[in-house]
Amino acid sequence: MNKNLIISQLTIDEKIKLLQAKDAWTLNGMERFDIPEAVLTDGPNGVRLMSADPSIVNTATAIPTESILSASWDKELLHEVGAMLAEECHDMGVDILLGPGVNAKRSPLAGRNFEYYSEDPYLSGILAAEMIKGVQEKGIGTSLKHYVANDQETRRFTSDAAVDEQTFREMLLAPFEIAIKDAKPWTIMAAYPSFRGEHLCENEYTLKTILRDEFGYEGVALSDWGGITDKVKAHKNGLDLETGSFSSADILKRAIADGIISMADIDEHVFRVLELIEKIVEGRKMEYTCDYDKHHELAQKAAAESIVLLKNENHILPLTKQCEVAVIGKFAKEPRFGGGGSSGVAPKKLDIPFDYLSQLCNSSFAMGYDMEDDNAELIEGACAVSNNKKAVIIFIGTTEVTESEGADRLDIKLPQNQVELVKKVARVNENIIICNASGSAVELAEIEPYAKAILHTGLSGEGCGKAVADIIFGNICPSGKLTESFPVCIENTPTYPYFPGYDNHVVYSERMLQGYRYYDTKKIPVMYPFGYGLSYTNFEYSNLEMSQTNIKNGDSLRVSFDVKNVGDISGAEVVQCYIRDIQSYVERPYKELKGFDRVELQPGETKHIEIVLDERSFAYFAPHLNRFAVESGDFEIMIGASSQDIRLKGIIHFDSEDDVRLPLDWTTSIGVYYNDDRYSGMVRKVFDELGITESHPMFPMLSGMKLEDLAGVLAYIQVPTEQGMKYQEMIYHAID
Ligand code: BGC
Repeated sequence: MNKNLIISQLTIDEKIKLLQAKDAWTLNGMERFDIPEAVLTDGPNGVRLMSADPSIVNTATAIPTESILSASWDKELLHEVGAMLAEECHDMGVDILLGPGVNAKRSPLAGRNFEYYSEDPYLSGILAAEMIKGVQEKGIGTSLKHYVANDQETRRFTSDAAVDEQTFREMLLAPFEIAIKDAKPWTIMAAYPSFRGEHLCENEYTLKTILRDEFGYEGVALSDWGGITDKVKAHKNGLDLETGSFSSADILKRAIADGIISMADIDEHVFRVLELIEKIVEGRKMEYTCDYDKHHELAQKAAAESIVLLKNENHILPLTKQCEVAVIGKFAKEPRFGGGGSSGVAPKKLDIPFDYLSQLCNSSFAMGYDMEDDNAELIEGACAVSNNKKAVIIFIGTTEVTESEGADRLDIKLPQNQVELVKKVARVNENIIICNASGSAVELAEIEPYAKAILHTGLSGEGCGKAVADIIFGNICPSGKLTESFPVCIENTPTYPYFPGYDNHVVYSERMLQGYRYYDTKKIPVMYPFGYGLSYTNFEYSNLEMSQTNIKNGDSLRVSFDVKNVGDISGAEVVQCYIRDIQSYVERPYKELKGFDRVELQPGETKHIEIVLDERSFAYFAPHLNRFAVESGDFEIMIGASSQDIRLKGIIHFDSEDDVRLPLDWTTSIGVYYNDDRYSGMVRKVFDELGITESHPMFPMLSGMKLEDLAGVLAYIQVPTEQGMKYQEMIYHAID
């Protein structure tokens, strides 16, 4: 396709037409240039092809939602799932899949947390990149969303995010940055809210400065559905394609005529849209097979790798096959396999947990609760069924209404009738096994003492039923590890005082202390930490080695160690590498994830793991330098089985050429100068000369004052004014 030739022949109306979707799910084509229409569809948890006839519901393979798929920490699996999604897109005539999402998880209350991977930006970025590559290698496009700072549902169209630059770069942008640079998604979906006063579909800073100039992104930036409020501003500030709203072409024509937006700008957007169409045309030519049975097996495998075993007292799990168990709860027969809203998928084939459990044991069912009311009779029925059974497997969880698009949760408690159910059943049978289905963390503290085992199944797709039965009866060894901390209660979460904001203001006061970064730094106990998950076997870590003990900018550090399966069965271990800046000039989280691996091990087998850390692994975003930079000093390298189960530690020294210190000027405090060696540590020298030490009773007060007041400060402690002025003058010359 000769794009420039086409652009030179397109009329203004035709150009404008190409920059706007034709209808909810189709991009405009143009016959006279052989430009085909293209189909977009949600979403990340399976292909949700909407039908023009609302009575027709298209089905697709429902994969685990990102929130639990991520718990596999399995890059290959994410890639494979991406490829599977692409095959179904081909089969259904879809060109672009609207996902995945990598928004930040500031609070477990956020209604769409289930659509996002992790509270850790690095992990989210890496996993998203794999999924995107899996899809796009098969000739189908993706749309990385929701770019950016769309971290809650409350007032998502009108709220404005106030985020300081360090937090913005390290916590919000980082996953987009990783996925964009590594996987080059064909499109990026700009989000609904505003950021620093400008809508994200019209935000020059995010769409141009960062996306194009800094990240070098060359694909199409499209709006979230109906996200544009000012069409002219959107196109002027970097947005290529309008979706979900059908504003008049005249608005743009007038703006072009009035010189508010240039034709060169319009042509740039058209060029990118044509480039996208070109990829789509090529993609359609790719050969594919689409075997829904195989996809179902993949969904089962994905669920099995992702489900997290949170508790297993006295090794109650796995249960012996063919024993007698009670299976309680509506979700045992009608599983919560996915989330609501635009990512909801009608599954092709849904594995029912009760059916699969029944194949492995002698099981009796009771409903136990219904979703709306307290129901004493249902609880009584559950107790009756649970009596004299080897164990009771109770399926609980949140509802689709509480976790969905457009609304955040009000609390993280489980429905009270489910809590009551667990407590009452525990009176007749103490061998309680809980299976929790939720898209984000829930409060488990109240039921935990009544449970011998707890499995977090999340919303693990259409294969969940088989996977959970296989784990409970030991056909599969659990290996998932949490990618989101489970707090003790909502009051303990980092954003509790300020989520979801007030009026339209969303202030990121927690800064970088989201998730485990908060719990670890502020020493807040959690129910289950980030990175945690039990297995039926045990792993031993040893032989930590580092390629160097001193590194500098541009170097890579290779961290290696051994992991051994010391149990009797094969299993997989997720190993995690965290870094701690031992002493830092600015606030930094206590530790941060910078590498991970998932390793399958036979009983007795040892594998050597290598994790490579680069300069960025040690860096933080220094706003005054406007880039990531490393502060010289010692860093602790921690290898763990979870964020709170560190097995191996080492220290390296980073000799950095970055000067991360803030520039000093006349308004900098005397205390900062006192501890700074720039300008030959002049303030300290003056103080030494005058015999003023840190133990001087006035020191704390003096050190908080500005350097420009030095003479006055000294006069205050009875240094003759003339002498004080002399010192002030001397320093003035040194600094200027
Ligand atoms: C959602 C997007 C989705 C789009 C199309 C929007 O409301 O925020 O995630 O892709 O609708 O359904």
